[in-house]
Amino acid sequence: MKKITDVYKLSNGVEIPCVGFGTWQTPDGETAISSVKAALEAGYRHIDTAAIYRNESGVGEAIRESGIDRGEIFVTSKVWNKCRGYDLAMEGFERTMSKLQLGYLDLYLIHWPASPERFDDWKELNLGTWKAMTELYKSGRIRAIGVSNFLPHHLEPLMETEIAPMVDQIEFHPGYMQSETVEYCRKNGILVEAWSPLGTGRMLTNETLIELGKKYDRSVAQICIRWCLQKGTLPLPKSVTPSRIIENSKVFDFEITDEDMAIIDRLPNFGGSGLHPDKIEF
Ligand code: A2P
Repeated sequence: MKKITDVYKLSNGVEIPCVGFGTWQTPDGETAISSVKAALEAGYRHIDTAAIYRNESGVGEAIRESGIDRGEIFVTSKVWNKCRGYDLAMEGFERTMSKLQLGYLDLYLIHWPASPERFDDWKELNLGTWKAMTELYKSGRIRAIGVSNFLPHHLEPLMETEIAPMVDQIEFHPGYMQSETVEYCRKNGILVEAWSPLGTGRMLTNETLIELGKKYDRSVAQICIRWCLQKGTLPLPKSVTPSRIIENSKVFDFEITDEDMAIIDRLPNFGGSGLHPDKIEF
């Protein structure tokens, strides 16, 4: 990848810009609008939101007002956990579309799997949601479909269906690599997107990363984002601060050596956010 508009190709041939702008915890209204506009001005062409972020209205407004062709911007949203199953997923999609006001969606994800720990009928629930997404995809209202926070045992039933997921968006950053899921996705042609590539900011004080930042004359955030790209994943850094939004986009003028990649890979697993898909209670 040489620039922020370079793309990964999904299994259905759809191209997706290699760095996305994350909006988790970005408040709706002025903050969502100004930060998405700042991202588009900085060159990002991929914006990631979700129904539960409650900022789809602001995200859509910023995109519409940007003056950039709709077709040049890749937009993702996600169906929330309260909308599991076919009917509720369909309703959730319509709500998302009426908030975004963007005509169509580039990528729609199941936000969290129904897990065997909490639901006896977890497979049927996930398959019902997936059926809705498959229909919306086939009707042309969504260009690609996928999941988020799915581990291999959640993915397996979906892999048997007519259309397999094209993306799995998981927590992925130095100190939390989820290697088993990443390997499963690689083998099955599923692109891994990295949420919280900076560990929601917690990796920024890591001594090893600070040292590497000095070596490359880059910020720790840039090291984390670059590391995600060199791992073949698609990072989704979030910020509402214009200077950081720009900083996080400048990750194409240096390369981390194989030796230093291995040093980052070996950072102890610190457990990440602790939001395990089989343990969450929301
Ligand atoms: P803010 O949005 O106030 O700028 P992640 O993408 O891993 O979830 O991390 C997001 C968090 O990291 C947010 O708190 C964000 O703060 C902060 N952040 C994003 N980019 C940078 C950066 N380049 N330097 C320092 N902090 C950053």
